[in-house]
Amino acid sequence: MHALSRRVYFGFGGGFASRARMSSPAARVGGGGGVRDPSENPAVGRLRELVKCGEAADGWEKSWESGVTPWDLGKPTPIIEHLVKSGTLPKGRALVPGCGMGYDVVALASPERFVVGLDISSTAMEKAKQWSSSLPNADCFAFLADDIFKWKPSEQFDLIFDYTFFCALDPSLRSAWAETVGDLLKPDGELITLIYLISDQEAGPPFNNAVTDYQKVLEPLGFKAVLMEDNELAIKPRKGQEKLGRWKRFGQQSSL
Ligand SMILES: C[S@@+](CC[C@H](N)C(=O)[O-])C[C@H]1O[C@@H](n2cnc3c(N)ncnc32)[C@H](O)[C@@H]1O
Repeated sequence: MHALSRRVYFGFGGGFASRARMSSPAARVGGGGGVRDPSENPAVGRLRELVKCGEAADGWEKSWESGVTPWDLGKPTPIIEHLVKSGTLPKGRALVPGCGMGYDVVALASPERFVVGLDISSTAMEKAKQWSSSLPNADCFAFLADDIFKWKPSEQFDLIFDYTFFCALDPSLRSAWAETVGDLLKPDGELITLIYLISDQEAGPPFNNAVTDYQKVLEPLGFKAVLMEDNELAIKPRKGQEKLGRWKRFGQQSSL
């Protein structure tokens, strides 16, 4: 199904020398072996230089143009395939913001679930279209080049899936991310965050990231995690560094 069989492990848990950092919060969560440090991956260093210079949007575009995409798995993240098979995901309309090559978009798409993959990089969206346009479920997804913070779709979504997008954004944008997700999701829709746990970074992307960072911006908007668990299906280099969060919105409790 996937045109790209290559596996380039991102420094977001990538295939480079790891060192155990069991004193860090990321290392404690999940209890697995050592935690890989993105700052040790030269490709992450190049990405950080690109995204730091000038506008972030230009930086992402340049990273795609020059093939500096160390996060790219070359396939859907296994937990998404598992969730699709489980039949527990909302049907209707789904959104994957910051979708990159769009493997998760394609994995989620079916006649019952139309999926929009959105990325600020037009190069990314061209590449995503190239590998996926002749797949049997190609009518069930679309790729759009736009900035999630400016995009105004005509309809809301039943499901939003975020993977390595929240942690790729400058932390100053996290409240805006939550507001945007809240606006784009139907009131009874579900937000799924596959949380890449990371600490001790002096820069990003990926930026330091913990479950509490999501709670801080989502809970004031009425979101509550109905599930938060270790991702047992994380790819090997990210084992022990991922949490699956499933969030629903509940009405604000009356204090009376
Ligand atoms: C770390 S990559 C993750 C890609 C994909 N989710 C994956 O796991 O392979 C983050 C992506 O977010 C995109 N991005 C960054 N800022 C964005 C924005 N404001 N709106 C939409 N996409 C954005 C980047 O171009 C990049 O492809």
